[in-house]
Amino acid sequence: MNLELQNKVVLVTGGSDGLGAATAQELALEGASVAICARGQDKLRAVAQGINASGGKALAVTTDVTKLEDLTRFVDLTIQHFGRIDALVNNAGKAAAMPFENISDELWAEDLDLKFHAAIRLSKLVIPHLRAVGGGSIINILATGGKTPAASSMPSSVSRAAGMALMKAMSKDLGKDNIRVNGVLIGFVESDQWVRKAELTGQTLEQVYAGLTPTIPLGRVARAQEFADLIAFLVSARAAFVSGCAINFDGGMSAAV
Ligand SMILES: NC(=O)c1ccc[n+]([C@@H]2O[C@H](COP(=O)([O-])OP(=O)(O)OC[C@H]3O[C@@H](n4cnc5c(N)ncnc54)[C@H](OP(=O)(O)O)[C@@H]3O)[C@@H](O)[C@H]2O)c1
Repeated sequence: MNLELQNKVVLVTGGSDGLGAATAQELALEGASVAICARGQDKLRAVAQGINASGGKALAVTTDVTKLEDLTRFVDLTIQHFGRIDALVNNAGKAAAMPFENISDELWAEDLDLKFHAAIRLSKLVIPHLRAVGGGSIINILATGGKTPAASSMPSSVSRAAGMALMKAMSKDLGKDNIRVNGVLIGFVESDQWVRKAELTGQTLEQVYAGLTPTIPLGRVARAQEFADLIAFLVSARAAFVSGCAINFDGGMSAAV
């Protein structure tokens, strides 16, 4: 399948690690230019250098997505460097799940800022550039908890549900400009967040993944490459009529369609 991503420019937030890094690498392999951001400079630069060294085109911009001035700089530098923007993947995030009564006002605000307001602010900055090239694609990376919030799954499940409503409403506003907006709801995917969990809990990575699998009908955690393949498809012209979808990427785990 030809994804026709040559000469396209895609922004990926949280591109220094895990799913964001895998996505940037896959998009670059398919011929897209990628602009990636994260707070930590070293890993971010290493991902961009790896892509550039293998013949791809990557720009790394150190960015905290919760800061509007950083987001503005990310978009401005991308335009200066690549001259256009065709797609945005709002991926930066981190796990936050605990019982309702344990969550402080500060944590609610922090989680919504990282997973919800950042996507709003960056989308607003990017939309004029998508219009300028005749349309484009915005993908919000969410989690299955947004559809099926479990006990002690907050604040994340609530931020993700907000992100899902945002995606749907935006798809209706922006369809007239040929801008597609979709959400990908993740179950469990191999990534650096699980590596850190293994280190914190003194388990092997295999033990962490084995602990996640009993609820997954396909019997395993997803690979980051499989996630990246889905994102590359959604960004591409092959998904030209796909908009307003909240796609489960969970091996059949979620109780909701
Ligand atoms: N992997 C899973 O099983 C799973 C499940 C459900 C949802 N998700 C969601 O999928 C997305 C990717 O997860 P992952 O597993 O790849 O996580 P990860 O390995 O921890 O990577 C997270 C990325 O986000 C960046 N980031 C975090 N806070 C940021 C901020 N304020 N500004 C800019 N960048 C920031 C991190 O870099 P810095 O720390 O250097 O900023 C890193 O590049 C996240 O939104 C996550 O919540 C993942």
